[in-house]
Parts: sequence; structure tokens; C-alpha cells
Amino acid sequence: MTPESQADPHHRLYPAVELRGVTKTFTLASGEKLTAVNDLTLTVEPGEFVCVLGPSGHGKSTLMNLIAGFIEPTGGEVLTHGDRVTGPGPDRGVIFQRDTLFLWKRVADNVGYGLKSRGVPKAEREEIVARYLDIVGLTRFAKAWPKQLSGGMRRRAAIAAVFANEPDVLLMDEPFVGLDFARRAVLHQVLIELWSRANNTIFFVTHDLDEALALASRILVVVNGKVMHEARLDLPRPRDAEALLSPEVNAVRLAVLEELEAAMADVDEAGGQFAAAASA
Ligand SMILES: Nc1ncnc2c1ncn2[C@@H]1O[C@H](COP(=O)(O)OP(=O)(O)OP(=O)(O)O)[C@@H](O)[C@H]1O
Ligand SMILES: [Mg+2]
Repeated sequence: MTPESQADPHHRLYPAVELRGVTKTFTLASGEKLTAVNDLTLTVEPGEFVCVLGPSGHGKSTLMNLIAGFIEPTGGEVLTHGDRVTGPGPDRGVIFQRDTLFLWKRVADNVGYGLKSRGVPKAEREEIVARYLDIVGLTRFAKAWPKQLSGGMRRRAAIAAVFANEPDVLLMDEPFVGLDFARRAVLHQVLIELWSRANNTIFFVTHDLDEALALASRILVVVNGKVMHEARLDLPRPRDAEALLSPEVNAVRLAVLEELEAAMADVDEAGGQFAAAASA
């Protein structure tokens, strides 16, 4: 850690996330090399809400895993708040598409797990857990087991568990897939509320353009492991139907759709994601 980042506890002097010429190449069983992230450079400031869109198999999850520190880049550097990422850390919380609750722990113990492992005293822990359970609307279910919750409630519990750790950077990989419209709307509200309180930085991968338009302050379109297009949306949240159909949002919608359609056409012509993504 540098002296400046020590002097500033919130690391506001540094970008929340920085990728400098990051490449990730996998070697397949056949020996063939596959470049999932390709010389990608990106700076994200603290408090940004970044939504990442792009065709399947084009490097979105790999990008998240690199920032999370679950995998190492083949080339280039990943930094969070000015420090090089060398592995996972409590400054970064991750929500995957799959359930991330411990099935053998009650809801409240799931939410308090990260705090407990960091040695936060019991009374303080209970207060924080109660606060987040209230925010996600699960106070009544504090003592319930995950299997006693609906899919949307489990997702809310998982979000509370990650937010209770107050990570500076939140990485969410298609977190609301398969939920109905109403549950998604509730979770969007919860997420926006938590984000606007904590002013943390969010990376949110989705295949749903409308979801991205409702949430993002910046949209990135990732194709072949590169950022092919980016758009900013400086509109307050929550964004109602009128805001989402405004000329400003429509312009972004069309531009992103064009980019995605062009990428899909390339994929079709090349005969699949491997042909499009393979290199080196
Ligand atoms: N551990 C791995 N070993 C080998 N190849 C991998 C590995 N992880 C990802 N890949 C490859 O890297 C490419 C990008 O995968 P990635 O999971 O990042 O795509 P994605 O954009 O998240 O796709 P989706 O939208 O389907 O989730 C794919 O071709 C995939 O096969
Ligand atoms: Mg993925």
C-alpha cells in the first residue's frame, strides 16, 4: 500500500478499479490457446455503477474473476484503489448467478458470516446483520434456513450478506437471472438503495439491456475480450418508465443494440464463439 492510500482511508485518490493492458489467455485441453480478455484497459472511479454487456463467451466473467482476484492475468495489471490485485480480499464482494448462501447456516448467520470471520464483536455484528436484513426485507426470516426461502428471497439474503461486509467494490455476475419481473424490480430497488448509501463501486454483468439501462452510470459492451463500446447515463435512480423511454436513454439503447447485433453477426459468420475469441 502506498503512503497516499494509507492517508486516505477511503482510497478516494485512486480509481476504484484499474485494468492496464490486461490479457487472459487460457490453454485448452487440445493445446489450443484462447484469449478471453484481450489487452483491456479500463479505469473505474469510486461510486460508479458499471454494467457489462456482451455476447456469451466473450470474456465478461473472466473480467470479473480477474478483478475479484480468483484468477491472474497472463499480461498486464489489475489494481483496486491503487494496489495491485494479488488474490481475493474483503474489499471486493462477489455475487454469482448461482446461490452463494451456506445451506447449513440460518439466514442471519449467513449475513453475519463475513463479519464474524473478520472478528467483528457479537453485539456490533448483530446490529449490522439486523440493519441489512431490514433493508432487504428479511427481518422475519432471520432464523430461517435458506431452503425455506424463495429464489428471490435467497438472492436478497445473498445481497445482504455481501453488503454487510461493506466491500468497496461489488462484483455481480448475472445476479438476477431467472427471477420474475416483480422480484427483479424489488432487487433493483434494494441494490440502488444500498449502493447510494454506501457509495461503493459496482460491476454488474447482465444480458438484459433494459436492466443495464435502469441501473448503470456507465455501460460497457465487451466483445472478444475488449471494450468495444461504452456509454454514460447521468440520470438519477430509480429510473421510472418515462425516464427509460427518454431520448437520452433511447440513444444509448440503440447504440448498444447496434454494437451487440454487429458482434452477433461476426460470431455467426465466424461459426461460433471460439472462432471469434480464439487468437495467438
Ligand atoms: N478456466 C477456463 N479455462 C479455459 N477456458 C476458459 C476458462 N474460463 C473461461 N474460458 C473461456 O474464455 C472465454 C470467455 O469466457 P467467459 O466465461 O469470460 O465468458 P462470458 O462473457 O462470461 O460468457 P457468458 O455470457 O456465457 O457468461 C470462453 O471462450 C470460455 O470458454
Ligand atoms: Mg459469464
